[in-house]
Order: sequence, then C-alpha cells, then structure tokens
Amino acid sequence: MEIELLLEAVFRKYGYDFREYSKAHVKRRVLSRLRLSRIESVSMMQHLVLHDADFAALLLKDLSINVTEMFRDPNFYKAIRETVVPILKTWSYIKLWHAGCSTGEEVYSMAILLKEEGLYDRTQIYATDFNHHVLKHAKEGIYPAELMKKYAKNYQDSGAKGSFSDYYHAQYDSAIMDASLKKNIVWANHNLVTDSDFAETQMVVCRNVLIYFNKELQNKVHGLFHNSLVNGGILCLGNKESLQFSEYQSHFDVLDKKQKIYKKKYR
Ligand SMILES: C[S@@+](CC[C@H](N)C(=O)[O-])C[C@H]1O[C@@H](n2cnc3c(N)ncnc32)[C@H](O)[C@@H]1O
Repeated sequence: MEIELLLEAVFRKYGYDFREYSKAHVKRRVLSRLRLSRIESVSMMQHLVLHDADFAALLLKDLSINVTEMFRDPNFYKAIRETVVPILKTWSYIKLWHAGCSTGEEVYSMAILLKEEGLYDRTQIYATDFNHHVLKHAKEGIYPAELMKKYAKNYQDSGAKGSFSDYYHAQYDSAIMDASLKKNIVWANHNLVTDSDFAETQMVVCRNVLIYFNKELQNKVHGLFHNSLVNGGILCLGNKESLQFSEYQSHFDVLDKKQKIYKKKYR
C-alpha cells in the first residue's frame, strides 16, 4: 500500500508511470534505495520524492534498470542474421524501432550487423527510451575501452563478418563508435507506458524491458508493438520475454522459438 502511494506520487508529480511494473521488481528497488539512503520508511520516501527533485531523480534511476552490452546474447544476433535478414532483404525500405534502447550498445550492434549484411543504407533506426540521461549517452556513442574485449568476443560469437575494431576509434580510455554507424539512427524519448505507437514499422526490437512490467502492462505494450508493425513485420523480444499468455500471441507466427522472434500475421 505504501509503495503504491509512492508510485502514485511519482506518476502525479513527474509523469513517470511505474504503477504497473512488476511488484517484486519495484519492491526490491525501493527497499534497496531505502537502505542506501538510510531512510526510515516508505512514507518518508514519498515525502522526499515530492519535495526533493534530486532524490526523485535517484529513485527514477533505481526503478529503470539500464544494464546492457554490445551483442548481448550473441545467439540473438545469430538468429537475426540467419532468420530475419533474408526477410529484411525482401524490403526496399526498413524502419526499425529499438524500444528501451538504454545507452545504445544494442542499437550500434544492430547497425553493425545491418552494415555487414548490406542493409544499413536502406534502414532508418528509431532508438527510444524514456530516460533522457541514457539517451544522451547513447547518442554520443562513447564507451569505456576496457569493455571492448568482451564486446569483441560477443561480436565474434554472434556470427561476425568483419573485424570489431573497425567500428570504433580508441581514444585514451574510451571507444568512440564510428560516425558511419550513427547516420541512420534517430534517438528519441518515448515512454512505452504512456506514449503511442510508431506507424508502419518493419521491425521492433525490445529486449530486457518488459521483464519489469506486470502481465497486464506487458499485454498493453504487445498491443503497441502489434499496431506499430506492418503485416509480415518482425517482433524481437529476446530470450527472457515472450508472447506466451499474451492476447496478441495468435496474431504472430514464431520465427525463432528460443530468441522469441515473431512475424506479424497477414490479415
Ligand atoms: C535493462 S535495459 C535493456 C536495454 C537493452 N534493450 C538491452 O537489452 O540490452 C531496460 C531499459 O528499458 C528502459 N525502460 C524502462 N521502462 C520504460 C518505459 N516505460 N518506456 C521506455 N523505456 C523504458 C530503461 O530506461 C532501460 O534503459
């Protein structure tokens, strides 16, 4: 009850709607913030959220997990190359929506893959997240150099066709993604809970985002993706999420059972 009131306060004051996120996730994050900031109770936290913008920003950060990496789950990218790329090649223009893109690693990975498959020049990528801090980072495309070894390994495991070091420039302790990868990417703020769909999209990628939502909200967002996709469009949810138990399951054919890649049925 106290946590529900806290989420209500966050929504009313800041417009961020966590009311239908999974209860277990929210409870874990709120209690962790309680301990870290040494706050007495959740109602005290509610007071802080309403009157202290810095604290509210901290809590918003806690509630939206931004963990990501390049070529995360290499088998996902392998499945894209083997199963999805042949379908993408049949279209003369591809609009791809990456929802919940965090700091952009996943988007640059896809840009690299599309480049290697000769598809990047006819693709427009819309990369969205509801957290403007991560979007700013994503747009810059600068990552710690120390991560590149792991990313290069992921890239190799994903069925790579080139050399990972060709896609970034090393500068001091940083790796800066190559400008050619950025040219067809539009970074935009979009909230999956409160904003509307993207019309006429050939492909939607949304991985490791819906795990934080309860079943009803997942279903609502599946509807958003369904409405955004053209007939025959591809929905990629990744290996942690699925359309199982969703009202929209019957509207899609399964292309890859493990990586949860679906194709919208023609109607
Ligand atoms: C764990 S990250 C996943 C990043 C990337 N998709 C991946 O799989 O590596 C989850 C992202 O979802 C975003 N997110 C959470 N709730 C959201 C919402 N309602 N609308 C848009 N993005 C949201 C968070 O800000 C975060 O960047």
